[in-house]
This record gives sequence, C-alpha cells and structure tokens, in this order.
Amino acid sequence: MLRIEVVENINHTPGLQLAVEGHAELLQAGLSDDVAMVHWDHKAVIAFVDRQDPGEAGAAVGPYTEAVGVISFGHLEWARQFDIYIGYVRRPHRHRGVYTALWKRLVEEAQKRGVAIIQGTTDVKNAPMRAVAKTLGRTEQAVVLHFRVPPAEAPGA
Ligand SMILES: CC(C)(COP(=O)(O)OP(=O)(O)OC[C@H]1O[C@@H](n2cnc3c(N)ncnc32)[C@H](O)[C@@H]1OP(=O)(O)O)[C@@H](O)C(=O)NCCC(=O)NCCS
Repeated sequence: MLRIEVVENINHTPGLQLAVEGHAELLQAGLSDDVAMVHWDHKAVIAFVDRQDPGEAGAAVGPYTEAVGVISFGHLEWARQFDIYIGYVRRPHRHRGVYTALWKRLVEEAQKRGVAIIQGTTDVKNAPMRAVAKTLGRTEQAVVLHFRVPPAEAPGA
C-alpha cells in the first residue's frame, strides 16, 4: 500500500536521503547543475510502501514501511508559489504511479495554503521527467539561459 506524508522540514526524515540520492543520480546522468539542491528549509512530500519483512532466515515476519519517493519543495509565500527542487522515485518503484501520487498530494497542499503556482525546472535532456510532467498537466513555460563564464585572461597575455 502507498502512503503519502507531507513534512514541514525535510531534515531528520527519510525524504532527505531520497532527495540526496535523487540529486546524485541526476548529477551522474549529467541532468543537473553541480550546485546544492537540498537546503535547510525545504519541505517535502514523501511516499512510503508497505513491504513484507523476510526476516533473518528468509521467512516473512511482517510488514514494514520503506520510503520510495520524494518531492522536495519550498513555499515562497510572497509569490503564492511552491518551488520544486527534487522529484525522485527509487528505480524499482518507477512506473507505478508513485510520482503521480506525490504530485496529487502536493497540489492538495497548495490548495490548502492558497498557493497559485507550482513551479519546477528540469534539464531539457530529462525526457522521463518532461513526459511525466506533461501527463500531469504541467506546461513548459520558460527556457533557462546558461552561460559558463570563461576564466579571465591573464594580464599581459
Ligand atoms: C521522473 C520520475 C520521478 C517519475 O516517477 P514515476 O513514479 O515512475 O512516475 P509515474 O509512475 O507517476 O508516471 C506517471 C506517468 O508519467 C509517464 N512516465 C513515467 N516515466 C516515464 C518515462 N521514463 N518515460 C516516459 N514517460 C514516463 C507515464 O505516462 C506515466 O504514466 P503511465 O502510468 O501511463 O506509465 C522517476 O523516473 C525518477 O525518479 N527519475 C529520476 C530523477 C528525476 O529525473 N527527477 C526529476 C528531476 S527534475
């Protein structure tokens, strides 16, 4: 069973581990800037699944819960906006609607708090994220222009 929780602060929750894992995966895939993506004041929506505990000898001993997905976000109250930082679902749990369930919960939270816009960015090469976003009715609104600053020329060179 899938359970979704919202936490006001991601610290000391399983959401932190997931957000860091997600960022590491994106960095390795060349799909993220190498800047810190998890900050002290982030909030999070976290997805948990019930699993059967195999026990030491391999016999099932009972259910336990595992955190499998996260959306970390900030609330910009002055803009009536949520900004998403990391959306991530552990590989074995993908394509089962986990991100969709996280998103629905985030939208409910936005409604409760009078938030007008939920904003997120993703790399143009991140086809899975762009496809998921489209199915959720999110639209692509801006092109982010990057310019890598070259080193200054040495004096007299
Ligand atoms: C992107 C990601 C969060 C999607 O999570 P998920 O739980 O698998 O998504 P869902 O199961 O809710 O997918 C919802 C719909 O999106 C589409 N979708 C999902 N993954 C897709 C993929 N890899 N390619 C194309 N479409 C995809 C499907 O239409 C899916 O509907 P379906 O049930 O008909 O398949 C997950 O792949 C992930 O963690 N990727 C690595 C981290 C990442 O890229 N995060 C975004 C950073 S900005």
